Parts: sequence; C-alpha cells; structure tokens
Amino acid sequence: MTEVQTEFPAEAPLNCDLCPRLVAYRSKNRLEHPGWFNGAVPSFGDKAAELLVIGLAPGVTGANKTGRPFTGDWAGDLLYETMLKCGFAEGTYAARPDDGLELKGAMVTNAVRCVPPKNKPNGSEVNQCRNYLNSRIEALPTAKILLCLGKISHDSTLRAFDLKVKDHPFGHGTEYALPGGQILLSSYHCSRYNTNTRRLTPEMFEDVFNRAKELLGR
Ligand code: URA
Repeated sequence: MTEVQTEFPAEAPLNCDLCPRLVAYRSKNRLEHPGWFNGAVPSFGDKAAELLVIGLAPGVTGANKTGRPFTGDWAGDLLYETMLKCGFAEGTYAARPDDGLELKGAMVTNAVRCVPPKNKPNGSEVNQCRNYLNSRIEALPTAKILLCLGKISHDSTLRAFDLKVKDHPFGHGTEYALPGGQILLSSYHCSRYNTNTRRLTPEMFEDVFNRAKELLGR
C-alpha cells in the first residue's frame, strides 16, 4: 500500500461526528429506536485476516440495529452463507450478533461505517469515512485480498491507495494489483436488488470467493 498515514484508528468511534447528515439520521433513529445499536458499526472478524471484505454501509434495520456488518440485512444472508460454504466462516449465521458465527482468516467491514438514509451515502460521506478504511487496511497487514462489494466500495478502496478510478474500472470479478502487494478483487454487491434481478446469482458470488481462496492458496 502507498503509505497513507492517518491519525485515525481502524474503527470509527460509536458517535463519530464527521458527517452531519449521518449524525442527524443517527439521532433520529436513536429517538425512534432506542434499543438499536445506532452507531458507527465496527468491522467483524479475524484480526489476522488474509481476506478483507469491504461492503458499502450498514442497513438501517440490519447492521445499524444489530451492530455487526451485514447482520440482519438482506445482503447478509447471501454473504455469510457464501463465506460459510467457502471456508471463510464457521458456525451458524442467524442474523444476530450473538449467533456464534466466526470468520476464519477473513474480516468484514464497510466503506461507510454509519447508516446512510435510503442506503445511499453521498460522495463526501464516502470520502470522510475513507480515513477509517485506510486505517483498517493499514491495521491488517496480513490481508492479501481486498474483496470489494459494489462500485462505491471498489472506488473508495482505489482512492485509499491514491489510484485512479478511470484506470481501474469496476466489474464483477475484476482483479487489480495494489501498490502494497494486495489484490483488489471486486464483485457485484449482494444486495436484494442485484440478487432479485439475477444481476448477481449465488453461483457468481461463490465464484468470487473461490477465486479469493485460489489466490490465497487455500
Ligand atoms: N449491510 C452492511 O453492513 N453492508 C452492506 O454493504 C450492506 C448491508
């Protein structure tokens, strides 16, 4: 990785205040749903992961409610089912943070740590949160594969390495060598829309995780 020095820790504080629109949304959610997590969702998984999966942002009634990436979100069903199948997780995924699911050699994080209204972070929010993405990557020197789910995650990861988006177009299954020696592998996001429209099938998603396995020699 090109040295991107930030003073940010790998995990955002629960009450991160970098993005005013996301802070306002969090306050509203806290009033309406005081029992929910309602904070910046920390990364989940193995602290010595070889595979870092980078999603978009927490869903309001999923990760924002449960406090674990993708957990309780529609997209989490396919993500964790695929990770279990491909040997990157053990246990059972039951859409609850206390389901005992353990990631094996893998970690899951998000390009944006706080829930955005309508699941859509804006460009400045993605840019602000890149401080945490940079720090997360720097804090995981064991990660050889950065698996980005969707174009926003792909582009933000390229920018974390000061690489140009136009020179590294996003596509399902694209692979690029990163300056720090990691491989940027990308997939269509496992969102409800992409899976319902069959833009992304479970087989296509599994192929990407199997490719990660192959690249890792696992
Ligand atoms: N939930 C997450 O935590 N991230 C996503 O990208 C989608 C759902």
